[in-house]
Amino acid sequence: MVYAFESASFVFGARLCYLVDSSAPSVRRIPFSSHQLSLFKFVQERIQCAGSNPGAGPGLQFSHELIPVFRAIVEQVEDEEVEKTLHHSLSNDLAQNPTNISKYDILVSRYKPHLNLSDKGLNKAERSQLKIPKRSYLGLQCTECHRFFQDRTPPSRCEKCQGLLDTVLDEDALSHYSKHDLGNTAHSMWKFHMFLPVRAGTIPVTAGEGATPLRPIRSYSRSRNILVKDETRNPTGTFKDRGASLAVTRLAQLGVGKLALASEGNAGCSFALYSQMAGIRCNVYLPNDANVAKVELSSKLEAHVTGVHGTISDAGRNAAKFAETTGAYNASTFVTPFRHDGKGTMALEICEQLGWESPDYIVYPVGGGVGLIGMWKMFKILQRLGWIRNRPRIVAVQPRGCAPVVDAYNKGRTEVAGWKTPKTIAKGLKIPKPLAGSWILKCLRESRGIALKVSDVEIHKAMLNVAKQDGLLVEPSSAAAFAAIPKLHTTGAIDTNDSVVVIATGSGLKTLEQS
Ligand SMILES: Cc1ncc(COP(=O)(O)O)c(C=O)c1O
Ligand SMILES: [Zn+2]
Repeated sequence: MVYAFESASFVFGARLCYLVDSSAPSVRRIPFSSHQLSLFKFVQERIQCAGSNPGAGPGLQFSHELIPVFRAIVEQVEDEEVEKTLHHSLSNDLAQNPTNISKYDILVSRYKPHLNLSDKGLNKAERSQLKIPKRSYLGLQCTECHRFFQDRTPPSRCEKCQGLLDTVLDEDALSHYSKHDLGNTAHSMWKFHMFLPVRAGTIPVTAGEGATPLRPIRSYSRSRNILVKDETRNPTGTFKDRGASLAVTRLAQLGVGKLALASEGNAGCSFALYSQMAGIRCNVYLPNDANVAKVELSSKLEAHVTGVHGTISDAGRNAAKFAETTGAYNASTFVTPFRHDGKGTMALEICEQLGWESPDYIVYPVGGGVGLIGMWKMFKILQRLGWIRNRPRIVAVQPRGCAPVVDAYNKGRTEVAGWKTPKTIAKGLKIPKPLAGSWILKCLRESRGIALKVSDVEIHKAMLNVAKQDGLLVEPSSAAAFAAIPKLHTTGAIDTNDSVVVIATGSGLKTLEQS
């Protein structure tokens, strides 16, 4: 009896595999899924059967190429017995075919261990054996060394190389959803739960974040085609609520009871709100010059707020130290991998609101890059799923007094250098060295993006302009995106007929002293 694994094809990046019994009268091919424990039991039986009956031949044979794939699956199996058996047969195979272990590890990450069986290309009987997982969340992957991790404990950066972690969504599982599964009612971003990194049966910690309007604006009358995604309508007045709702939901599931984060103010308010709802103790570190209302609101929502001398980088060091010494979870930007997908739901909503079309451009004010990375990830997924035809180009806007991303991008760099003396009225964009600098640049390059700077004077003017003409009250960090529009038009970077969505990231109600 000779069994071998055979890989058939790639389906949305996942491998379609078969267990092949070539000794059967007609070759038997059994579809292979990492989600089918029964198959592992079957494999186990075969191994045992071969062991007790030497005449039966070598039992399992793994085709060499599939060893890393198989190992990746082993890592996902939670049944100890099965795991032991598979490890054993795997090491036997390795002993016979010595393989360079590091090469092997690289292969594991290249194959992406989120193996799953697609029903494409299977016959009816095979298809009926399958149980398609309804959740797409598989785990976390390092953006640097590409190792895969399960998030059984509250995760932060890569244990091996300190790289930032991204969540891995199984697009094969997502492909079993259709736009029609979304329903007509949109009470919050959780309508798109299947695109979010949570497990089955999750009850979200939600205050109705997301499901914000997409409406035309008059302020820039040269163009007929400018829409605003009005994120000021969120529970604490900013898009940060999306990231915080998602992060707190997952962290509460993982048993976090105390968290800390650095913020310029808005993320602090959002985490204070959702932490309070989930019964998590929230500690916010803010630069001393944070807007008063942001400090007040965070405190009112029962967060413990600490003012820090210096920039958000200094606040970040304080939050990290506090987390280290007290065991609090560090929920700062990209130290936790659970915020960007929440903001990514803006991309999902925008496409749905445009009748499952993508706009030509998204104009976004970049600070830590959470929204840019999250949205770009979702636009790519939607296109691969075939829900949208095209992807937008991303326009990254930063203030002249702190524009590390814009400079790096326009100079063709792959890393963001630190900005020495940040000075701007757009406090949410005063991030001298974003942790995810190279990730932001990668997204911009992939989108054939544009990066430009605006002055504080232009930001202030734009803030007054949209308030007067469109009744849209935004804070300076958000106004930066609007300030970019006339520049994009006059330089010809964007045609006046192009469809443009500007993200109004935060309400001016928390920054009245700056209006
Ligand atoms: C109002 C506002 N807009 C934009 C940003 C930048 O967001 P991101 O970190 O997603 O780049 C922030 C961040 O604090 C903000 O508060
Ligand atoms: Zn790593």
